[in-house]
Amino acid sequence: MDFRLSEEQLMIQQAARDFAKTELLPGVIERDEKQEFPKEQVKKMGELGFLGMMTSPEYGGSGMDTISYVLVMKELSKIDASSSVIVSVNNSLVCWGLEKYGTEQQKKKYLTRLASGDIIGAFCLSEPEAGSDATSQKTTAIDKGDHYIVNGTKNWITNGNSADVYLVIAQTYPEKKHKGINALILEKGMPGFEIGPKEQKLGIRGSDTHSLIFNDVKVPKENLIGEDGFGFKFAMKTLSGGRIGIAAQALGIAWGAYELAKEYSKVRKAFGTEICNHQAIAFKLADMHTQIKAAEHLVLKAAWDKDIDEDYDISGSMAKLYASEVAMNTTIEAVQIHGGNGYVKEYHVERLMRDAKITQIYEGTSEIQKIVISRSLLSE
Ligand code: CAA
Repeated sequence: MDFRLSEEQLMIQQAARDFAKTELLPGVIERDEKQEFPKEQVKKMGELGFLGMMTSPEYGGSGMDTISYVLVMKELSKIDASSSVIVSVNNSLVCWGLEKYGTEQQKKKYLTRLASGDIIGAFCLSEPEAGSDATSQKTTAIDKGDHYIVNGTKNWITNGNSADVYLVIAQTYPEKKHKGINALILEKGMPGFEIGPKEQKLGIRGSDTHSLIFNDVKVPKENLIGEDGFGFKFAMKTLSGGRIGIAAQALGIAWGAYELAKEYSKVRKAFGTEICNHQAIAFKLADMHTQIKAAEHLVLKAAWDKDIDEDYDISGSMAKLYASEVAMNTTIEAVQIHGGNGYVKEYHVERLMRDAKITQIYEGTSEIQKIVISRSLLSE
């Protein structure tokens, strides 16, 4: 067993670390406050190849492994989780799914532009009444011969307004339940495709989250992904990889908060000494660091499973479950170590705490991860 990263992985990690410090850190507080989408930063991440990391160069991507992808996600998330979720959705939920299951024509038409960062994509599964219970899709895609007519509403869609391409999950044959669900490619601007108001969020406020409304949207048959009725499996398979990306995001948030808390504890004085000299603080740092390292091993293991074509559904769920809990606990402790300063924006840890919460919710709540993990254990 070799835990060392390759030269190439170390280089991409360093590139992401430098980018996060020089390009994401300036303005991160203001973007959070104003709920401002990091448009310029996303453009630059596209130029660096961060938006199609695992996509093959043939389709405009960087052709890297999943380990490199999680290292980049971790570094970006230490500083700006709003920017990293854009990277995660585009890479894991949009580009990966299109490359794996799309037709040659779909790859040429959409994937090349998505992977190179010319445009970004969105993944549209959740609905007002189908969040965790994802098989209960109410959005319909009625088969009209050479096209589908799509009607319905999607909720909490990351990149909701800034995307140009949307992978939409919809029900075609309700009597077949999840086996009647399809995945379709929609484009912004298709007649009847309306973007709802922006959500006002607790965290990841720089990423734009919207509902989407479809009123008789005509979608050509060539935009169907995979076989007729493959849509639910497409969503599940895609989300399995997505969960590794969100686990890496949670890991990065935890590292970011820990590093800030450690540095602060070395300069802040109380009772005549730096607060890191008080065991109450030193033990917190020891716990935080140990938990983060454990989360990191789970995240890298899940990424490695994916890279060597092992099953990664369960390792990805375990990584997301644990890393998101570590992110929440670590950020709460980081605020505590900062005391009153932790509660104000300029010290960054309150934002990281708010950002951490979503990692326990999106791409499958912690409770859903426990369903996935326990079902697998009990079926052994
Ligand atoms: N890969 C392939 N197929 C899978 C699968 C996987 N990982 N997981 C389930 N399936 C298949 C099952 O094999 C089954 O197919 P068959 O009937 O042919 O055997 C089918 O899917 C239905 O599975 P279940 O019977 O297990 O369905 P269920 O309703 O009991 O549970 C669930 C399914 C795991 C709970 C699922 O609904 C789920 O993952 N829910 C959470 C949804 C979610 O993660 N939403 C996130 C929204 S996207 C987002 O947040 C993105 C963003 O913007 C950041």
